[in-house]
Amino acid sequence: MRGIILSGGSATRLRPCTKVTSKQLLPVYNRPMIYYPLNTLIKAGIKDILIIVAPERAGDYLNLLGSGKEFGVKFTYEIQDKPKGLAEAFIIGENFIDNESVAMILGDNIFEDDFVEAVKSFKGGAKIFAKEVKDPERFGVVEVNSDWHALSIEEKPAQPKSNLAVTGFYVFDHRVVEAAKQTQPSARGELEIIDLHNYYLRLGELEVVPVKGGWLDAGTFDSLLAAQIFAKDKMQDKMII
Ligand code: DAU
Repeated sequence: MRGIILSGGSATRLRPCTKVTSKQLLPVYNRPMIYYPLNTLIKAGIKDILIIVAPERAGDYLNLLGSGKEFGVKFTYEIQDKPKGLAEAFIIGENFIDNESVAMILGDNIFEDDFVEAVKSFKGGAKIFAKEVKDPERFGVVEVNSDWHALSIEEKPAQPKSNLAVTGFYVFDHRVVEAAKQTQPSARGELEIIDLHNYYLRLGELEVVPVKGGWLDAGTFDSLLAAQIFAKDKMQDKMII
């Protein structure tokens, strides 16, 4: 299994803090934000990790993270020229993914859960991880039946069909590369990850797994503040890096 951390974007919601640095390099309590998703991938047993970054920040990531040797893993870097959407990561990562399955995590997502079993048991198709939230309209939203089979999935719906947010950790088989190439930009001009989920949903190969522990997306000032406290209180004993 290969791993990708998507850590590009321009983070305009966090200006001026992100005027001269990347959101995912901002401190979250005692570590740069990206350490948390990186920790999640490494703890899941993934050793080959592609870090996708914005061009103007590439040097900072290289200085901070290096080759990966320090963490017992191998890092590869790719540039995303413009934030054209989450699904573009699989087009940028085509050669890196090759014929393997791939786990992707967003550089601003902090998870308490350990995904080692979810990764180990992955056989094919797609696995997404959902968490009940109070404000589902901020996220991708999945509707499930009583057996947790996905019924529908939508990006930031005005009228969410459930309270289940799709979190920023995903596992796909290698077909995700071709699926990503077939997607068209949405109204907001992005290649949407939700289109990939719907591709696997139509095939009947989308598995939805509940996230049991805490989860935060640190993309706004309020969630970043909450992330600081969450990292201090809940994450310290979970960190191996
Ligand atoms: O956090 C979970 C949510 O992440 C999901 O529920 C949504 O389905 C998914 O679309 C995404 O929504 P966001 O609105 O949070 O996405 P955002 O544009 O903030 O991007 C998420 C991260 O990915 C962020 O750290 C920046 C990075 N990114 C984003 C885009 C669009 C890139 O590196 N490149 C990009 O092109």
